[in-house]
Amino acid sequence: MDPHYLHETFALAGRAAVVIGGNGALGGAAARALGQAGAALLIVGRNETTCRARVAELRALRVTADFHLADATSPADMEATLRAACETTGAPGVEILVNAAGSMVRKPFLELAADEWSGVLSTTLDAVRIPCHVFGRHMRERGSGAIINFSSMGARLPLAESVPYSCAKAAVENLTQQLAWEMAPHGVRVNAIAPGFFPAAQNREVLRGERGRQIRGNTALGRYGEPDEIATAILFLAAPASTFVTGSVVPVHGGFQSVCLGFREPD
Ligand SMILES: NC(=O)c1ccc[n+]([C@@H]2O[C@H](COP(=O)([O-])OP(=O)(O)OC[C@H]3O[C@@H](n4cnc5c(N)ncnc54)[C@H](O)[C@@H]3O)[C@@H](O)[C@H]2O)c1
Repeated sequence: MDPHYLHETFALAGRAAVVIGGNGALGGAAARALGQAGAALLIVGRNETTCRARVAELRALRVTADFHLADATSPADMEATLRAACETTGAPGVEILVNAAGSMVRKPFLELAADEWSGVLSTTLDAVRIPCHVFGRHMRERGSGAIINFSSMGARLPLAESVPYSCAKAAVENLTQQLAWEMAPHGVRVNAIAPGFFPAAQNREVLRGERGRQIRGNTALGRYGEPDEIATAILFLAAPASTFVTGSVVPVHGGFQSVCLGFREPD
């Protein structure tokens, strides 16, 4: 076997990667994996404290990283993010985009206020659609790129009391497949990742109590995921390892509902 095989298959040296929501739990793990494979990173978020902390953590690992404060639902902010990415990474263009922003509200549909519906649709769908639009055009012009969107198990098996979130994630998967088709002739691959359950800021409430027991009891591995356990799948989708993968949704869920009626009491 060629001793360089693994290295070359997963190497991202010299590539610029923008991770939107890279200040969060799963986006942060994705950033660490991409950075340790050699990518130069721009972390994008709305909160300066958490963005700054994430960049410090990455730099301690000798990863080239900076941050840019922006709202992913704003086209003007995303245009500015693109310019910032080219300036701060020193790369000729952005090669990798990870869309890891998202939020959810747990409530029955009939109790939802209009702004709760539109708020979740905005942070979960528009925060993917708008970066895909801005960075997709940039990648089309350059003739290469990889986009990785965050979906959820809720896209195909709707999560109870999370209607706007599940609807938005179903739309993210649909968008991912359509973009993969549209952008393939331009050398751009577009995939999604569908996490199972990983404790994070946006779902802390949702995972509490009986619902958490139900989730872990219905997960073959009997536990929540650790953020780093999703990062390797994102690295695969960003790297030369996946040159024939586009329009796919990769599940990383520890065997959640791999069987029907298979509840096992969790620890
Ligand atoms: N954690 C899970 O179990 C899980 C499961 C399925 C899907 N997901 C998805 O994974 C992605 C990452 O979530 P996480 O669990 O790491 O949550 P998180 O709350 O730790 O991170 C989400 C980050 O996105 C940022 N963000 C939200 N809206 C934004 C906007 N408009 N512009 C810029 N940044 C914005 C938040 O400030 C936060 O830093 C989300 O799309 C989420 O829906 C997570």
